[in-house]
Amino acid sequence: MNILLESENIYTKKRIKSNDFEEIDTAYLFTNENINGYMPNLSKQSVLTVGSCGDHYFNALLNEAHKVDLFDINYISKFIIYLKKAGFEYLDYDTFCIFFGLYDIHRIFDYDIYQLFSKFLNDEATAYWNYLYKLARNRGHSIYESDIISNYHHHIEEVLASNAYFKEKEFLKLKKILANISDISFIHTDINELPFLLQENYDSMFLSNIGTYQNNTIFMKTLKKLSKYLNVHGKIYFAYIYGNVSEKSLFYHQLLRSSHYDVRGVSSELKSCQDHKVYMYSKN
Ligand SMILES: C[S@@+](CC[C@H](N)C(=O)[O-])C[C@H]1O[C@@H](n2cnc3c(N)ncnc32)[C@H](O)[C@@H]1O
Repeated sequence: MNILLESENIYTKKRIKSNDFEEIDTAYLFTNENINGYMPNLSKQSVLTVGSCGDHYFNALLNEAHKVDLFDINYISKFIIYLKKAGFEYLDYDTFCIFFGLYDIHRIFDYDIYQLFSKFLNDEATAYWNYLYKLARNRGHSIYESDIISNYHHHIEEVLASNAYFKEKEFLKLKKILANISDISFIHTDINELPFLLQENYDSMFLSNIGTYQNNTIFMKTLKKLSKYLNVHGKIYFAYIYGNVSEKSLFYHQLLRSSHYDVRGVSSELKSCQDHKVYMYSKN
């Protein structure tokens, strides 16, 4: 797996995008879930979550998880998360917001700002982002516009509502938490292989909406295997559903006949998120 070459092929559109999630692939920059609307307080908990854009990770830390491990099929997810982590740690609030496009999308990934904190990235992440900036001739906005970053169009009010860290007080809290975390535990794997790679138990797992893209039977088998790595009373938030009645939501709904399964509406002041829900498995 040549990460830089594959990423260059994605950046230059030499690689045709498939519908499947791949080992090196377009990555999300922000969550498209209302994480704030369903992630509970995780005090003293050990957590396993999808990597994605890191928003489950950062919000779990803000919700007081004492340990958070990540997994994702897409290795680029790791570089997004390292970039955000260094941004939290070494940029002030306003500069962080500028760099991640909150105020003016044209300044997203601004190269001058990148230079302020890139020296704090680890060697692998530095090599990765330097390579991309070189390809983009230091135009950060071109990286954002390329297929490296998912073109899911975020509405700024959704990004703000979903991520506690865009409130300055929470940003400062996260800065302090991250200062005590030297490295990120990231398992690069397909979810169906994940149960074979785990080495410890967790109190909560967050699987995002990965199940949407999985065969139901295979996904339920994986869920069962993952549940073996749950502590007693642990929970797997295994399916985030965006509201429309679908074959998936009907399938998950049938599971509610068992006392292990439950569903909860995702709370939100935003109209666009009001009918989202999340399905959970609990270990008795
Ligand atoms: C399903 S996507 C959608 C974005 C997500 N709702 C969020 O808010 O971040 C989340 C992540 O799941 C990862 N993913 C998708 N299929 C996967 C699989 N089979 N195994 C592991 N990770 C997977 C993707 O690479 C992506 O980073």
